[in-house]
Amino acid sequence: MKIAVLPGDGIGPEIVTEAVKVLKALDVPLEMETALVGGCAYAAHGHPLPEATLKLAKAADAVLFGAVGDWQYDKLERHLRPEQAILGLRKNLGLFANFRPAICYEQLVNASSLKPELVAGLDILIIRELTGDIYFGQPRGRRTATDGHFPGSDEAYDTMRYSRPEIERIAHVAFQAARKRNKKVTSVDKANVLETFQFWRDVVAEVGQQYPDVALDHMYVDNAAMQLVRAPKAFDVIVTGNLFGDILSDEASMLTGSIGMLPSASLNASNFGLYEPSHGSAPDIAGKGIANPLATILSAAMMLRFSLNQADAAQRIEAAVQAVLRQGLRTGDIYSNGTTLVTTVEMGNAVVKAL
Ligand code: IPM
Ligand code: MG
Repeated sequence: MKIAVLPGDGIGPEIVTEAVKVLKALDVPLEMETALVGGCAYAAHGHPLPEATLKLAKAADAVLFGAVGDWQYDKLERHLRPEQAILGLRKNLGLFANFRPAICYEQLVNASSLKPELVAGLDILIIRELTGDIYFGQPRGRRTATDGHFPGSDEAYDTMRYSRPEIERIAHVAFQAARKRNKKVTSVDKANVLETFQFWRDVVAEVGQQYPDVALDHMYVDNAAMQLVRAPKAFDVIVTGNLFGDILSDEASMLTGSIGMLPSASLNASNFGLYEPSHGSAPDIAGKGIANPLATILSAAMMLRFSLNQADAAQRIEAAVQAVLRQGLRTGDIYSNGTTLVTTVEMGNAVVKAL
């Protein structure tokens, strides 16, 4: 099985190195090939998503992705910024379904910023639509103009849109996922203000009629943001659009102790997937060897399960992660009194040893 490995910028290379180390320790035949993506690809080839990188990803059985983005590229025109690499991969590969599970491991109950009783046993799944919404509408503004300015205008805008098929397919994904869990879907929208999300609500409700065994409720996004920190365990599956899903998944990650713990899978209609931590490139801590590699290691486990049909290997990785947490090993983001502070590399080595 061929894996395209795209480490990217910032802490990307450090955390991906640890995930690759873990994958190599398994007895699964994997061929891994690495390519540049994001700011480093722009620096080397003049484009954040070079043709060769996209080709490698398309030819692979799955993609393991680190993170992209660095302040030094903030002034570039929109289409050359590092973030365009991941957006381009999602769009080009048709990765419309983004799974972001938020699970609070027993050992990390005290690392969460919420009271232990609110997060103990937490296991929710955010399903974020990933190739539509305001992320892929028509933008207009200074950074979309080729000379860096948008002459004659003092405004900028983006357009939010969803089509019926886009909503239907992500709704089906959510209901089917809920069937394998606690049979509850909360669809998050802003139907009280936005036409796009009134349509979203209507279409999700229609699809829901095909799943009478799954409970469906609708929630406005502002309320959902509040409920996530008030009573997160009341949720099972949350399905939402691209922008709200981006925001709510960062919020949900803190329930698990740290954003450094949250893996993700982005799938297309045939279960081809790109696997990446939900966090970003964290340029402020890049190169220091202190980033938490567990979100990426857990993303590699999701890759084995969803795209490579290796559920046993996935489970071994997840068990190994729990074992190192039980041993008390912690990177800085999940450190608390009485635990052992380790580096990125030490954490990766410990997972390999636990395997
Ligand atoms: C994420 C990230 C990306 C997004 C950025 C890097 C484009 O925040 O995967 O959540 O907004 O989708
Ligand atoms: Mg995000």
